[in-house]
Amino acid sequence: MKKFNIGILGLGTVGGGTYDILRDNKDIIMERTGVDYAVTRILEINEKAIAAHGVDPAIVTQNVDEILTDPSIDIVVESLGGIEPSSSWMLKALENGKSVVTPNKAAVAANFDKLQKTAKEHGVQIRIEACVGGGIPALTAITEALAGNKFTEVMGILNGTTNYIMTKMGDEGLAYADVLKDAQEKGFAEADPTADVEGIDVANKLSILMALAFGKYVPPTEIPTVGITGVTMDDIAAAKEKGCKIKLIARAAVKEDGSLEYEIKPTEIPYSHPLAGVNYEFNAIYVTGNAVDEVMFYGKGAGALPTGSAIVGDIISIMRSEAK
Ligand code: HSE
Repeated sequence: MKKFNIGILGLGTVGGGTYDILRDNKDIIMERTGVDYAVTRILEINEKAIAAHGVDPAIVTQNVDEILTDPSIDIVVESLGGIEPSSSWMLKALENGKSVVTPNKAAVAANFDKLQKTAKEHGVQIRIEACVGGGIPALTAITEALAGNKFTEVMGILNGTTNYIMTKMGDEGLAYADVLKDAQEKGFAEADPTADVEGIDVANKLSILMALAFGKYVPPTEIPTVGITGVTMDDIAAAKEKGCKIKLIARAAVKEDGSLEYEIKPTEIPYSHPLAGVNYEFNAIYVTGNAVDEVMFYGKGAGALPTGSAIVGDIISIMRSEAK
């Protein structure tokens, strides 16, 4: 039976969730893939995290090259976050013949072409399902099951933290600062939650969605973006009067002349609209294709196990294709 060795960079919220799923669901994963695997090396400095996940300290390192250049490691999970050094480390892993799986939308959106090109040049894979929509398998659907479509629009709620905040402020009347703290404690927010509340995280995700759905890379910094920091309780009450909720909506569409329009902003959504029912850390992604018409994906957009689920799905895809 073929055996794959996995290295994990970072045992934070998502890296930790991934480790737990790989350990707890190993029997079913082995049965479904017909391969064996082990996490053989983890880059982590936080002793509490190492103990909390019951990791054998013997496999923990603080030297990233023990993962990036170790010939025995087949797959690297990069779950550190931030553009650098994560991007350089992913490139180094790919150059050393390892496939890479990452939830790091900031790094992928900043270096989309370079990461894809390097993987191709070295005959390995970079898989990024966890970058958009947490546990929702929207990217795999767009690039595989729906690949026969010309896409005309992608839109939706792409950030769990801000959707959690908007839901708690709107439905429970709680204060912004308290709800943000709550979202941070639950592991939904980025290390610097500015990326969530200013819409930067959504811009990273929309950039990736556009690259995959429309084949056009737009840097996140070029996407007109308004976050939720300017949304007040008065705005929420005024929306309620009109039978609406305020949601942070991302949208990209193909115009009649073939060019793309794209934007991220807080938007009033009528209660009757399906997106009004997407609450707390849940995300929803609508995709319109010229054959399938409208498809909507819904699920948890943040959190250790939902995002870990997407990472483990990508690891399984790599193991299946490389075991052939
Ligand atoms: N901070 C992100 C969110 C994590 O709240 O959606 C998942 O990408």
